[in-house]
Amino acid sequence: MLLSGTQRLNEQGHLEVGGCDCVELARAYGTPLYVLDEALVRGNCRRYRNSFAGNYPAQVNIAYAGKALITQAICKLMASEGMWLDVASAGELHTALTAGFPPQRIIVHGNYKSQAELETALDAGVHQIVLDSLPEIADLEAVARSRGQQVAVAVRVAPGIKVHTHTYIQTGQVDSKFGLGVEGSLALRGLRQAADSPHLDLRGIHCHIGSQIFGLESYERAVEIMLDLLVEAQQQGIHLHELNLGGGLGIRYTHEDAPAPLEQLAETVCTALLRGLEQRRLAPPVLVLEPGRSIVGEAGLTLYTIGVVKEIPGVRTYLSVDGGLSDNPRPALYQAEYEAVVANKANGKPTRRVRVSGKHCETDTLIESITLHDPEPGDVLAVFATGAYNYAMASNYNRFPKPAMVLVHNGQADVIVERESLDDMVSHDRVPERLR
Ligand code: LLP
Repeated sequence: MLLSGTQRLNEQGHLEVGGCDCVELARAYGTPLYVLDEALVRGNCRRYRNSFAGNYPAQVNIAYAGKALITQAICKLMASEGMWLDVASAGELHTALTAGFPPQRIIVHGNYKSQAELETALDAGVHQIVLDSLPEIADLEAVARSRGQQVAVAVRVAPGIKVHTHTYIQTGQVDSKFGLGVEGSLALRGLRQAADSPHLDLRGIHCHIGSQIFGLESYERAVEIMLDLLVEAQQQGIHLHELNLGGGLGIRYTHEDAPAPLEQLAETVCTALLRGLEQRRLAPPVLVLEPGRSIVGEAGLTLYTIGVVKEIPGVRTYLSVDGGLSDNPRPALYQAEYEAVVANKANGKPTRRVRVSGKHCETDTLIESITLHDPEPGDVLAVFATGAYNYAMASNYNRFPKPAMVLVHNGQADVIVERESLDDMVSHDRVPERLR
């Protein structure tokens, strides 16, 4: 079983997390239910902050990537851990601001930020806007000029690195909608343009090489490319003080996944960085990281109720649960794999091979093939490692209301996202007069 954080088997043989029995959570809050282990989220934040601070002589800002999972409670939690925050849309920014997250610790991303998003970010007084393209540099400059303001910015660079991960989440290669390529000197052009603007205060460069990355050598390559760019910029009289290396560290979805511990990421990145800085005689810039998945991914569980166990003799057994594609689109989108356990029989020996299906009107496979202990209708199935990019990517397909989310800690469970109701499903519908 893929236990992480405070997950364990309790005296009843049930799966427990944050001191809460998952079977009782399912009973009290209904299913599907997202469950988030507060201690593990906090622990991951601290491990990031401590391991980078311990390996790097200058300032390090760990900016949690809100796209992985953002709610007002998560923003509060991140603020209390001294984290910074990366937001990538008006909705993420609004969530952070309404939760009282300090704007001076917010970094704004996006390959297309609307004028309204730029204005909101400036009104809020965010730390920095990361510029993603040449046209955007001109757009932001115009906005800043019209407000008579100088705006702190960084330039997102596509370092031209192809990492081993699903193509949908490769983002640092040359052929990408994100950032300005180092190839063809586009990045340098962007830096020149931003540096020349009296309305932009150019602080640094950013890259994000991809997501669910296991091999740390990609980070070493990114460091080298980014340092070379810092030198090229310096030769043009552009002095940059901030280096943002994005997020990307992978997590363990199944027993086959072996991601590097984040302490190793910190050591690898900082060693490569310090060596590279020394070779180029550069002073250490402020270092920024933007981890999302590796902060919240393994801290999340989804609880489902098993509805139907259907055996097709000689073929396979299908186990249908009361959620699926709408609360976790990752298997369908990325062929992502998950592991699970029957939470109320968690100490039983896995004996029955099944395919776990959701209840949407298509194939909707959550887990292709898994061995479980005696799954029966009414049992609670717990799927592991669903903290990142599950609720964040949930939909209302087939008009499924989005599940609730509880934050568990020391035996206490608090709802941090209310379950949507069936009435919520129709609350935005309007019927024109002529159809009434
Ligand atoms: N910073 C930037 C600029 C990013 O684009 C991303 C992720 C991150 C940080 C955080 O990366 P992480 O540490 O979470 O890997 N929906 C996909 C993942 C897309 C990630 C996109 N950018 C999935 O479910 O796997």
